[in-house]
Amino acid sequence: MTDIHPSAGTAGTAGTAGSAAPEERVRLSGPQFQQDPAALYAQIRRRFGPVAPVLLDGDLPAWLVTGYREVHQITGDAHLFARDTRRWNQWDNVPADWPLLPYVQHNPSVMFTEAAEHRRRAGAIGDALAGVDQFDLRAHCERIADRLIDAFSGSGEADLVGQFALRIPLLAVAKMYGMSESATPQLVRDVAISLDVGPDAIPAYLRVQEAMGRLLAAKRDAPGADVPSHLLRHPSRLTDEEIVQDLLVVTAAAQQPTANWIGNTIRLMLTDSRFAMTLSGGRGSVGQALNEVLWYDTPTQNFIGRFATRDTHLGGRRVRTGDLLVLGLAAANADPHTSLDMSADLMGNHAHMSFGHGEHGCPYPAPEVAEVIARTTVEVLLDRLPDLALAVPAESLVWRPSVWMRGLERLPVAFTPTYAGGG
Ligand code: HEM
Repeated sequence: MTDIHPSAGTAGTAGTAGSAAPEERVRLSGPQFQQDPAALYAQIRRRFGPVAPVLLDGDLPAWLVTGYREVHQITGDAHLFARDTRRWNQWDNVPADWPLLPYVQHNPSVMFTEAAEHRRRAGAIGDALAGVDQFDLRAHCERIADRLIDAFSGSGEADLVGQFALRIPLLAVAKMYGMSESATPQLVRDVAISLDVGPDAIPAYLRVQEAMGRLLAAKRDAPGADVPSHLLRHPSRLTDEEIVQDLLVVTAAAQQPTANWIGNTIRLMLTDSRFAMTLSGGRGSVGQALNEVLWYDTPTQNFIGRFATRDTHLGGRRVRTGDLLVLGLAAANADPHTSLDMSADLMGNHAHMSFGHGEHGCPYPAPEVAEVIARTTVEVLLDRLPDLALAVPAESLVWRPSVWMRGLERLPVAFTPTYAGGG
């Protein structure tokens, strides 16, 4: 079994998340979150209960919430467990180059707003996404998948992470934003660079921001049936700066999780004999695979987070004002202390925590939009390449080294070569 690597942490002040004895904290970093995180979460839960004292990168203390009930409780009480990262009691210990800064550095987007202001911003996003014609989106996703497959179908081999899954969500977002086809490739390139760690990330982010500003100006002149136009005319009277910020959040929030949902679903279907049997013609099983991935290999395995607004108790722990609670979404989904029967067929059971929950959860109908994108593109892939098979042994597939996301580095496959547009 994976070792928890108890750590001798140093950060933290008495009485906060940093108050647990140093030797009793789990280091929330390192390769053990990569290959078999489920075993690790079970081990953490057994040893620490539903709320575990952890150390983030740089030995900063926090709580990892692995209990289903506790994640539900936190996400359902936005008053006690709030979202504005400026509430964190560890800011004095955060170095300027801290690798997790992108998750916690406050910006004026919907992500870090609270209460009435959050309802105003998130409500507008929900309304704008509800305006997306899902039939239209589905037809567009079929075209996206077809074009991507056309690019590799003649070769008989592909990496379905790099050449397929990672490329899809942004192309779908560009369509929902009513962007011109010519502006899309540059945006896709810049968003990809901006989401990576490295010196090019910030300039790329600024280019994406400028592109959103230009898009908004164009939509003001010529509104359409798209997300930015909807936000511009929304009764909540958003400013241009607010809309640009929130278009950036929606873009980033859609990209990596949806790409991983697609990649993890294809992996499941190619490695689990229940799906292999139905690959030729078994369309119904894509929905089942998508749902199982949300339970067992969810794209956002851990999420930062919530901040206690006052001293309280949670899962038998004393939590202090300003403590950071990391939502252990994958761990919560696998929590044996729920009323859910995990041995039962999960088809149709959507009670997982994979989209978060409550006021700050993935805003309705974003999960539906993500499902249209994921389901359509996986179905097209299986239709176009019916003898698709893994090109490497399943055990040699490598997960990306992230505590936060769950997705493969590469998904090498082989199939009978076909020609563009052909079956
Ligand atoms: C079209 C695709 C998607 C869009 C547009 C989208 C949009 C968003 C937005 C705007 C937020 C911030 C909500 C807020 O601060 O109030 C959010 C949060 C979140 N999304 Fe999504 N998302 C998408 C796909 C996904 C997928 C596929 C997953 C995982 C399966 C996911 C999981 C989450 C989680 C875990 C949160 C945080 C929830 C919480 O704090 O309780 N999203 N999403």
